Amino acid sequence: MLRISHLKKTFNAGTVNEKVAMNDINFTLNPGDFVTIIGSNGAGKSTLFNLISGYFLSDEGKILLDGQDITFMPEYKRAKYIGRLFQDPLKGTAPSMTIEENLALSYSRSKSRFISLGIKKKDKDLFRERLAQLDLGLEDRMKTKMGLLSGGQRQAVTLLMSTLVVPKVLLLDEHTAALDPATADKVLRITKEIVAEKNITTMMITHNIQSALDLGNRTMMMDSGKVILDIKGEGRSQLQVQDLLDLFKKESNKALDNDRILLS
Ligand SMILES: Nc1ncnc2c1ncn2[C@@H]1O[C@H](COP(=O)(O)OP(=O)(O)OP(=O)(O)O)[C@@H](O)[C@H]1O
Ligand SMILES: [Mg+2]
Repeated sequence: MLRISHLKKTFNAGTVNEKVAMNDINFTLNPGDFVTIIGSNGAGKSTLFNLISGYFLSDEGKILLDGQDITFMPEYKRAKYIGRLFQDPLKGTAPSMTIEENLALSYSRSKSRFISLGIKKKDKDLFRERLAQLDLGLEDRMKTKMGLLSGGQRQAVTLLMSTLVVPKVLLLDEHTAALDPATADKVLRITKEIVAEKNITTMMITHNIQSALDLGNRTMMMDSGKVILDIKGEGRSQLQVQDLLDLFKKESNKALDNDRILLS
């Protein structure tokens, strides 16, 4: 599946601003793994996603996706296999285009087809069906411009866009952090449903420790450019929020310090 070995990344090497952001990262995801990732600010979580998606190239190490070496593959090519959502709901969609146009664009892009002028009825029906599953009433607003939607609605549509064609891996970088608690819950519910339905291999960075335990089958904790804990299997289901915080402290010798942290 996704195999990361000896990944390293240093920013501003050789200057006073030198920052080792990725310090020998190693892990392998199994197909269908849903990994939640927590860590302090600056731990390297987003950098890890930037390296996997090809936004940055690593200094050292290897990234294999389904056996293919993608370490040096350009970002636009990886985008066909890798879905990504950010904290900012404005990222990832075209605000002046309608919901159905946005869906059609990502659908055609991921299938490497040319974008036709009109949207085929068959595709429209598919979009309507998928939108209805979100349970946000968006199936009746397909001609509404994306820019008019709330942040939560946008994140839900972006999630659909990234999964219309099942990606080999889905990267979620605190995609609910900018939403109010009720909307964040809704988007998390939708995330859970889509990931489970299509059995998508997923990595989700979260500042919400409870969500890190509730969602997925595996939790990684990052600190100072390293994965300091990788918890899966039997032991994980017994863990409470405080246990995770204690484990973090034990491994890193400091408290988990994240300005957006939510403990419940
Ligand atoms: N483009 C860049 N140029 C220079 N330094 C960078 C760059 N991107 C990240 N860094 C540095 O690398 C380190 C890791 O940053 P990263 O954004 O991966 O952290 P994070 O774990 O996602 O933190 P947060 O919880 O705040 O989102 C930080 O010290 C950051 O300042
Ligand atoms: Mg980050």
